[in-house]
Amino acid sequence: MAFPMIFNKPRIVKVLKVIDESPTVRSLIFKDDLCSKAKPGQFIMVWIPGVGEIPMSVSMMKDGLAGLTVRKVGEASNALFNMKVNSMIGIRGPYGNSFNPIIGKVMIVGAGTGLAPLMPLLDILTDKSASIDMIVGGKTVEEFIFMNKIKEILSKTESKIVVTTEDGSYGIKGLVTDAILPILKEKRFDMIYTCGPELMMKKVFDMAQEFNIPIQASLERVMKCGIGICGSCCIGKYNVCKDGPVFDFQMLKEVKDEFGLFKRDHSGKRVMF
Ligand SMILES: Cc1cc2nc3c(=O)[nH]c(=O)nc-3n(C[C@H](O)[C@H](O)[C@H](O)COP(=O)(O)OP(=O)(O)OC[C@H]3O[C@@H](n4cnc5c(N)ncnc54)[C@H](O)[C@@H]3O)c2cc1C
Ligand code: FES
Repeated sequence: MAFPMIFNKPRIVKVLKVIDESPTVRSLIFKDDLCSKAKPGQFIMVWIPGVGEIPMSVSMMKDGLAGLTVRKVGEASNALFNMKVNSMIGIRGPYGNSFNPIIGKVMIVGAGTGLAPLMPLLDILTDKSASIDMIVGGKTVEEFIFMNKIKEILSKTESKIVVTTEDGSYGIKGLVTDAILPILKEKRFDMIYTCGPELMMKKVFDMAQEFNIPIQASLERVMKCGIGICGSCCIGKYNVCKDGPVFDFQMLKEVKDEFGLFKRDHSGKRVMF
């Protein structure tokens, strides 16, 4: 799909609101017409003046406003995390494809800031889906974001929430993928949606294959142009920025020699996860 020029036009927007989601995660709300109409799973390239440009999922879109949700990890994400109300950031996009919401029984598997693109999807699915099983994982309770919002959204539909932490500080002790297996043995799903660490998504994909359930997974790679030109985000024959970031069952099968195994570093060199 070619990107209409309008999405490529860089815009400078003012941070209108900063929300503390956890000690290490914040959401920044800004006004932008194009982003407020983004589809769940789409991302923007965010320019942090004097620091650099990184891809970020659009985590909220409503009434002309949009949001991103950043975990402070390294240089650029720390600078973004530390933005205050009235700070200026540059944005272009939204880019990429999006999750395809289906009518039926769905499972959503998310961890960390992987929940960012899943939140707008959840909003849409509550109107469409027959039932939603939401499985959220993290290393420790401090990592959890959006839990009250998730509970509120899911209260509107037939749903189940399962929470896991590796240290047992919240929900079931263990890996998110350990919690999925018994659920898949018990109930038949029409779709699995997932976003989070790629090793987690790889395990979820393996289970989806085993139980023959369609899956949509949102992938992360180094992104420079964001529009399918530079190739820095390639996985197999695909550019994650343009063909993704959401990969369906067939695409994931096509990139199985790289998915969860290799990624590209900033110089383009293939490195192991
Ligand atoms: C489609 C997509 C959506 C994402 N959504 C989110 C989200 O919602 N929330 C979130 O917290 N993170 C998200 N990320 C990850 C985010 O883009 C950064 O990779 C992450 O925040 C780490 O950046 P850093 O500067 O802290 O890391 P560092 O390791 O310090 O990175 C060093 C430098 O590399 C550059 N860099 C880092 N990551 C990237 C990248 N992926 N592409 C190009 N340049 C990069 C920056 O200039 C940075 O200064 C997403 C990534 C992708 C591909
Ligand atoms: S970021 Fe340039 S091709 Fe994807």
